[in-house]
Amino acid sequence: MSLHQIMYISSVTGTVTPQECAAIARASAISNRRDDVTGLLLFNSRRFLQVLEGPKEAVERIFARIHADSRHRGVVKLREGAIDSREFGQWAMAYDDPLSPADNLKDVVAALLASAGPSTRAHFMGSAELHRPAA
Ligand SMILES: Cc1cc2nc3c(=O)[nH]c(=O)nc-3n(C[C@H](O)[C@H](O)[C@H](O)COP(=O)(O)O)c2cc1C
Repeated sequence: MSLHQIMYISSVTGTVTPQECAAIARASAISNRRDDVTGLLLFNSRRFLQVLEGPKEAVERIFARIHADSRHRGVVKLREGAIDSREFGQWAMAYDDPLSPADNLKDVVAALLASAGPSTRAHFMGSAELHRPAA
């Protein structure tokens, strides 16, 4: 089956704490796994960056749900299209967690941000360390 990827950025509305962001990522990982969707969720206290990868229909359905979530606004797609393989395959939904570092994910994110353009990169390069989700 062909794989699809959507990457977007958005701005947090009100206050979402890093703990709440971790909770969103945990719940998303569980829910997305049912649809064979994987990816990455970054949060730098002001902005989200998320990558969703998986079957096209599932990625689009989940993105539509996320888009309507009032915890963020100004959702802008940065990338959308077919991919040959998952760039974040082993991460159900990676997210920031200061307790368990994963240097290799940091490298993947640096490469991702490099391809996303200078302004997105500027928003995220200084953000928290990136880590595997808790099992
Ligand atoms: C930044 C952000 C990213 C999210 N990512 C996902 C996700 O990857 N998968 C998911 O199921 N829900 C995600 N959510 C939560 C959804 O917006 C939604 O609240 C959740 O899927 C439950 O939807 P429901 O109440 O319609 O069942 C995210 C929310 C935010 C604010």
